[in-house]
Amino acid sequence: MRAFTSVLFGITLLATSVFANPDVAGGPSTPKQKYDYQSDVARLRKIVINSLYSHRDVFLRELISNANDALEKLRLTALTEREVLEGAENLNITVKAVKSEDGPGRIIITDTGIGMTPEELTQNLGTLAKSGTTEFLQKAESSTDTSGTGNLIGAFGLGFYSSFLVADHVYVASIAAKSSRNPEPVQHIFSSSADDSSFEVYPDPRGNTLGRGTEITLVLKDDALDYLETFRLTDMINKHSSFSSSFPVYLFTQRLETVPDDEEETATTTASEEVATPSIQSESDEDEVVIEEAAEPLQEKTEKNLKTKTVTVDEWVQMNAQAPIWTRDPKSITDEEYEAFYSATWKDHDKPLAWHHFTGDSGSGVSFRAIIYIPSRLDESYWREGLEGSNKDLRLMVKRTFITNSLGEDALPKWASWVKVVVDAEDLPLNVSRETLQSNKFLKQLKSIIIRRLLQTLTRIQEEDNEKFEKLQEVYGNVFRLGAVEDVKNRDKLATLCRFPTTQRNSTSLDEYLENKKQGQKQIFYLADMGKSEADLAKSVFVEKLHARGYEVFLFGQPLDEVFVQNLRRWKKVPFQDVAKAGLKFGDEETDPEEEKALQRQLTEEYKPLLDWLRKESTDIVRDVIISNRLVTSSCAIVADAHGYTANIEKMMSANNNPTKGLMHEFAKKQKILEINPRSPLIEGLLKRVKQLPTEEEERDLDAEDELKEVTSVLIDGALVRSGFGVNDSNEFFSRVDRILRRSLGVSETAPTDTSVKPAPPIDPELPTEDEPEEDPLRLFKPREEVKWEVEEIDDEGNPVNPPTSHHDEL
Ligand SMILES: *[C@@H]1O[C@H](CO)[C@@H](O)[C@H](O)[C@H]1NC(C)=O
Ligand SMILES: *[C@@H]1O[C@H](CO)[C@@H](O)[C@H](O)[C@H]1NC(C)=O
Ligand SMILES: *[C@@H]1O[C@H](CO)[C@@H](O)[C@H](O)[C@H]1NC(C)=O
Ligand SMILES: *[C@@H]1O[C@H](CO)[C@@H](O)[C@H](O)[C@H]1NC(C)=O
Repeated sequence: MRAFTSVLFGITLLATSVFANPDVAGGPSTPKQKYDYQSDVARLRKIVINSLYSHRDVFLRELISNANDALEKLRLTALTEREVLEGAENLNITVKAVKSEDGPGRIIITDTGIGMTPEELTQNLGTLAKSGTTEFLQKAESSTDTSGTGNLIGAFGLGFYSSFLVADHVYVASIAAKSSRNPEPVQHIFSSSADDSSFEVYPDPRGNTLGRGTEITLVLKDDALDYLETFRLTDMINKHSSFSSSFPVYLFTQRLETVPDDEEETATTTASEEVATPSIQSESDEDEVVIEEAAEPLQEKTEKNLKTKTVTVDEWVQMNAQAPIWTRDPKSITDEEYEAFYSATWKDHDKPLAWHHFTGDSGSGVSFRAIIYIPSRLDESYWREGLEGSNKDLRLMVKRTFITNSLGEDALPKWASWVKVVVDAEDLPLNVSRETLQSNKFLKQLKSIIIRRLLQTLTRIQEEDNEKFEKLQEVYGNVFRLGAVEDVKNRDKLATLCRFPTTQRNSTSLDEYLENKKQGQKQIFYLADMGKSEADLAKSVFVEKLHARGYEVFLFGQPLDEVFVQNLRRWKKVPFQDVAKAGLKFGDEETDPEEEKALQRQLTEEYKPLLDWLRKESTDIVRDVIISNRLVTSSCAIVADAHGYTANIEKMMSANNNPTKGLMHEFAKKQKILEINPRSPLIEGLLKRVKQLPTEEEERDLDAEDELKEVTSVLIDGALVRSGFGVNDSNEFFSRVDRILRRSLGVSETAPTDTSVKPAPPIDPELPTEDEPEEDPLRLFKPREEVKWEVEEIDDEGNPVNPPTSHHDEL
C-alpha cells in the first residue's frame, strides 16, 4: 500500500507539473506530436457532449466497458503469444477518485489490458475507422431524439468520447503488451481537452508506470465534482458494470476506522490493573469461578478506558466479486452461486424457485447466453397493474455490457412479465441502438425464445419435482390461467400447467380429469362460483347428483377460472359443461332402463298441478319449471339456460358495472329454469297442498292461497340463494320467513312488536373541560401472571425447528 501511495503521489506531482504545464514537460527529450482530430471525430465529440449531457453517468460504463474489451483482447492474444502477459501480473480494472484541495478533482480508470502503441493511440482515439459512422453521424445530428445515442456510442466502441461529458481534459497513458513485433514498448500519453480540435501524443515523461495497459485520467469539470464521491461511483458501477466484466473491477475507497491508540493503551491498562488488583485479592479465597466473574467487569472497564484514534484505511474493493455467471459452464456453477447472482442482480432476498441456464443461436444468427429465473413470489403490484405492465427485470446485454431492460413493443406478455432474465448477445450487429434494436429481428425472436424456455422450465418442474410444482401452483396458479386466456399461441401448454380442485381430488389437471372420465361422458363438468371455497362449492346443489353418481366435477373458485373455461371452451375436443346450466348430460342416458324413462313421464304427469302453480308464481324470475334429474337431497335449484347467466357470471356482470346492462342483460338474467326434486318430501307436501286448493272460482280460499304463495315464494328465493344467485329484495324475503316462523310457532302473524324505546337525553353542546385519562391500550391485553409465552422457532420453510418442550422462562 505504501508503495502504491508513493506512486500515486508521484502521479499527482506529475499531473500538476507535467500535464498542467506542457511547456516544462515538452522538452526536446519528449517530442510532442500534435494532430488534428479527423473531422468525423470532432463531430462525434460534439454530438456526444451536447446530446448526452443529461446522461453523463454513462461515461463510467463506457470506459469500464472499453477496459474490459482491452482485457479480453489481451486474453485472446495470449492464447497464441504468451509473452503479451509479461509486464503486469493480474488482469484487472481499477477506478480511483482523487480529490484535491487546490486543483481539479480527477478520476483515474486503469486496466491491464492489451494497451496501445502511440500509433494506435492516434488511430483509435483520433480517427474513426468503422464504416457507417458517417451515416450515423448524419442521423444523430439531424435527430432531436437523443435517448438512444448513449447505447449507439457504446456499441460503436466510441464510448471513450463520453469522457468529455465530465472532463475538461483527458489524459490517456498507455503501453502496449510486449510482443514479437513490439519487444520494447514505450508508454505514451494521449492528451486532449474538451474544446480542442487537436490532440497530442508524446512519450510519458514518467516512463513505464503501468507495466501494461491503459490509464485514463479525467480532469473533472467544475460541475462534475460530485463524481468523486465513493458512493456515487459505487452506485454507478453496481448499476451498469458490476456484472459486465469477467475481470475484477476494483474501486479505491477510504474509510475511517477506530483503532486503539498504542501509547495511551499501555497507560490505561496499567491504571486499571492497579484499580482491579485489590478486588481480586479480596476474593482470592473463593473458587476460580468467582475470580472469573470478577475479572469480567474488569475487562469491560479496560476497554472503556482505552483511548482510541481514528485512522483512514485505504482499500481496493472489488465491485464485481461475482464473475459473469452466465458466461460460465453451467456444470461448474453451484446452486448457491446462481442464487447469489439472482439476489445481487434483482435485489430479491428470497431464493428463486427455479432457473434455467442456456445458450442458443437465434435464427438471425445471433448467439447468446441467458439465464431465466422464476422468483419464489410475485410482486405485490403484479395483479394491481394493468395488462400492459412491462417487464423491468430483463437485462439485455451485448458482450457483457448492459444495453437495456426494455424490449419495447416486443415486451413479454403480462402472464410472463414477472420472469427475471439476463441475456447476453455475443454478436449483435454493431450499429445497434435502443431504437434500431427494437426493430431488430433478434428482439422479436428473443421474446419467443424466452417464453419457450420458460414454458420448458415450468413443464420440467411439473414432470420432475412435485413439491416444487405445488409451490409453483401456489404462486403462479392464476398466472397460468391468465396466460391461457391471454396467449393464444401457448394456450395449450399453459392450460396443461393449470391445476384445479375437483369433487374428488385437491388438484387435478385437465388431462388427469379426462383420464378419469366415465364411459359415455362427453362433457367436462365444472361448477364456477368466484370467491367460494372448494368445500362450499362441493356442497352445491348442482354437484350433488354428479358427485353421488361418482362423476368428477371441477370446482372453480378463483376469479380467473370462469374466464379461463370460457376462452378454452373445450379440452382435447371435449367441451366444458357448467353444471349450473341447462344442457348437462351424463352420457349414459341411453342405457337408462325403459322403466326409468316411463317413471320420468309419469312424474311429470303427476306433478303437473305443482309445476303449473310454480310457473305462475315465478314468472318474474325463471323461464320454466321442470322435474330435475340433477338433484338428490335438495328440494329445488335454479339452473341457468344455455344462453343465460349463471350466478357467477351474473355476479361478475354487476361487479363490472357493465354498460351492456340493458334489454339483453335483462333477457339473459331471466334465462333460468327452476328444477324441482320430486323425491323431496317438501316438494311432495307442496304438491299435496296445491292439489287441495279448490279450483272453482266461487270456492276459492284466499287465505290458504296467500299462505301457500308465501311458502312458494320463500322456496323460490331459497332456491335462488342456494344456487348462488341473489334474491330480488332480501328484506321482503326475511319478512316472509318471519311470518312463516310465527305461523309454525303458533304466534299471531299480525301482533305488532313493542317498538317503544328510551329516547336520548336533551341536547348538550358543552365540551369536556378535562382530558379523559386515556386507557392504556396495552393494559387491555396485559397477560395475567399465570400466562406463559411459548415461542416456536421455525426454519425457512416454516417448519418448527425445536418444538418447545418447556416454557421459556426468560420470557
Ligand atoms: C491490478 O493488477 C496490477 C497488475 O498486476 C496490480 O499491480 C494491482 O495491484 C492490481 N490491483 C488490484 C486492486 O488488485
Ligand atoms: C446495420 O448494419 C447492417 C450491416 O452491417 C445493415 O444491413 C443494416 O441495415 C444496418 N442497420 C441499420 C439500422 O443501420
Ligand atoms: C386435500 O386438502 C385437504 C385440506 O386442504 C387435506 O386435508 C387433504 O389431505 C388433501 N387431500 C389430498 C388427497 O391431498
Ligand atoms: C324486484 O323488486 C322490485 C321492487 O323491490 C319489483 O318492482 C320488481 O318487480 C322485482 N323483480 C322481480 C323479478 O321480482
